[in-house]
Amino acid sequence: MKKSVRAGYTFGHIEIGPRARKLLKASLARNWVSGGPNVKLFEQKFRKTFGFAEAVSVASGTSACITQVAALHEYGADWGDEVIVPALSFVATANSVLAAGFRPVFVDIQRDTLNIDPEKIEKTITKRTRAIQVVHTMGKPCDMDPILDIAKRRKLIVLEDACEAHGGRYKGKYVGGIGRSGAFSFYAAHIICSGEGGMVTTNDPEFAKILRSVRSHGRPDGTIFFQFDRFGINAKMNDLEAAVGVEGIENFQRIFAKRKENLQYLLAGVRDLSDRFYFLNEEPYEVISPHAFPLVIREKAGIDYWKLYRHLEEKGMQVKTLFASLPTQHKCFRFLGYREGAFPEAEYVGKNGLHVGCHQYLRRTDLDYFLEVLHDYARQTQAIAAGARVKRHAAQAKAKR
Ligand SMILES: Cc1ncc(COP(=O)(O)O)c(C=O)c1O
Repeated sequence: MKKSVRAGYTFGHIEIGPRARKLLKASLARNWVSGGPNVKLFEQKFRKTFGFAEAVSVASGTSACITQVAALHEYGADWGDEVIVPALSFVATANSVLAAGFRPVFVDIQRDTLNIDPEKIEKTITKRTRAIQVVHTMGKPCDMDPILDIAKRRKLIVLEDACEAHGGRYKGKYVGGIGRSGAFSFYAAHIICSGEGGMVTTNDPEFAKILRSVRSHGRPDGTIFFQFDRFGINAKMNDLEAAVGVEGIENFQRIFAKRKENLQYLLAGVRDLSDRFYFLNEEPYEVISPHAFPLVIREKAGIDYWKLYRHLEEKGMQVKTLFASLPTQHKCFRFLGYREGAFPEAEYVGKNGLHVGCHQYLRRTDLDYFLEVLHDYARQTQAIAAGARVKRHAAQAKAKR
């Protein structure tokens, strides 16, 4: 990996290498920067890397989600029908449902996996439910078997939001190729990066035709005529973004391995704190994609969330919350009428979860620094808690005398 020029413990970082620069130059020389040969190359390489039958490039992860959800109109969904999404995710997962003309119906998550709780899905299904858009949050694959089983029994389509899970695998299958389709984001902090950009993947060639049509205003697949067959948007990727994406996909295995090594190093370094935080846990049947390093403060850990957040920031770390419950801890879905308390797990994570980077440009010294800062903080809070306990016991003993 090339030596980095970034500063501090960043969440994500991008460096444009010689391969991308060459493709960018060629694009400029052609005086053509809309979709062209770089886009085709990026789609082809993405498809091949993960063994998907089809890969349809789009302008962002958000538009990847909108495009796959909007394709539901072709499969019996009517305006205003319902699509199930997890209560906790990046906002685009649920916004894409609204943007495509449907109503998001939220389901709580599991505190430890951060993913939709399959056991809570079935009771939210109504006559108007058409699909479940699951999210592989922080690169951890959802438990897909029970979800696919529900979908089969209740005749629903499963869509995957794999924006944070490039190269993640569930029981041998790459995420994004398990449901009907999968959405990926190539925003700066993501494993494959093109600045802005996204991809929708599917193993169903008919579905891919609809996706290609939706991303181009609903025109017939592959045409630029003013013929509009279905609802569509402009979600096309341009050749400049694709140039950067090609370099990313060509380096994917190397980047993935380095980030995974970082993630595992961090996980090994916090093992002694596992009674105070929930950390990612990789099951034998899955491969977690090293998107980031999430941590959720455990119940009774004696750690104040915002104090920890600010402490990490003061020590120079770029920290992010863990999204929080979209329907009850943000304002944007208030109009749907959910009340705080409806999603206890997502709300808990909203008050106790954060994440930091594990990207390929972080050095071992950066990782050690984070571990030291986190341990120091945990030790301080333990000492404060122990001091308070001693004081309480002394006061109780005095009162008894
Ligand atoms: C789960 C999830 N879905 C969708 C998106 C949207 O992707 P983008 O920022 O490329 O639009 C993101 C972005 O990080 C995400 O994390």
